[in-house]
Amino acid sequence: MKILIAFFSATGNTKKIATVIKNKLKELDVDVTSLDITSYSSRQRELIINEYDGIFFGFPIYSMRAPRICREWLQRIDGKGKKCSVFFTYGGFGKDPAHYYIKQLLDVHNFKLVSSAEFVSAHTFNYSGWLAAENRPNKSDYNIAEEYTVKTINKFISNEPYEPIEYDKPLYSSDQLDQAEKYRFHVITKLPTRDSDSCSMCGLCENICPTKAMDAKKGIADIESCIACFRCIANCPEQVLHTNDISHTWEQKLEFHKATKEGIDKMVSKIYI
Ligand SMILES: Cc1cc2nc3c(=O)[nH]c(=O)nc-3n(C[C@H](O)[C@H](O)[C@H](O)COP(=O)(O)O)c2cc1C
Repeated sequence: MKILIAFFSATGNTKKIATVIKNKLKELDVDVTSLDITSYSSRQRELIINEYDGIFFGFPIYSMRAPRICREWLQRIDGKGKKCSVFFTYGGFGKDPAHYYIKQLLDVHNFKLVSSAEFVSAHTFNYSGWLAAENRPNKSDYNIAEEYTVKTINKFISNEPYEPIEYDKPLYSSDQLDQAEKYRFHVITKLPTRDSDSCSMCGLCENICPTKAMDAKKGIADIESCIACFRCIANCPEQVLHTNDISHTWEQKLEFHKATKEGIDKMVSKIYI
């Protein structure tokens, strides 16, 4: 059995779960290949789906769905009836639509979704002052990732007829979620910007930007193409890239979702199978 793990990970959380899955598959003697689709160039290459018997897709949740650039990447692939699974990492808010809408998309593109999972992980916007799930994913999340791997590989191997998972229809339509996507730039009003003289001009921020939005010379991301994934901020060796401080919006965020910091920190990662 040949398995592909294709994942997008701007700040490393999704990659951590992808690594646990990969190691578990190796332990099970499964032939596994990883494909990191975070960079712009990796998403331009054609994916030869025929080579694989099953695929794990890993995405962070952005505005309650898989990131738009990942959905666009998926839309270019014909699943050829292959079995697949999707795992998400997220910062503790609004994750249900992600499962429902990715299932819809995968159906249209001829994949058979046999399972999905969500893993609580530090919110990207913690880099700018939020405090969501700061120490996640942790050992408990990794244990659930291992359990998810075993259950999913059994589904990949099984000869039983395919039974699609039924996810609850979310409260929000795709159009409403398209609108919600704009929320990030109401909060992040200053795009990743160099605000110190100690930059060595290594150019890493520009090289690793998933959407080619960062201009290392100018020291600022382009407003049209930046998706606020914070890959540049998280990976800057001199830590000279920042946005505006959004710590004052943290309480409002909790209030809007009727959540507490303690509640989010205690949330449990979950498998759908
Ligand atoms: C633009 C953007 C939107 C996000 N939207 C959500 C969201 O709707 N719900 C949530 O819980 N986390 C949200 N997050 C947090 C990420 O899902 C979370 O931090 C994820 O683990 C990041 O994965 P990575 O480290 O692999 O990039 C968002 C992050 C970004 C950058």
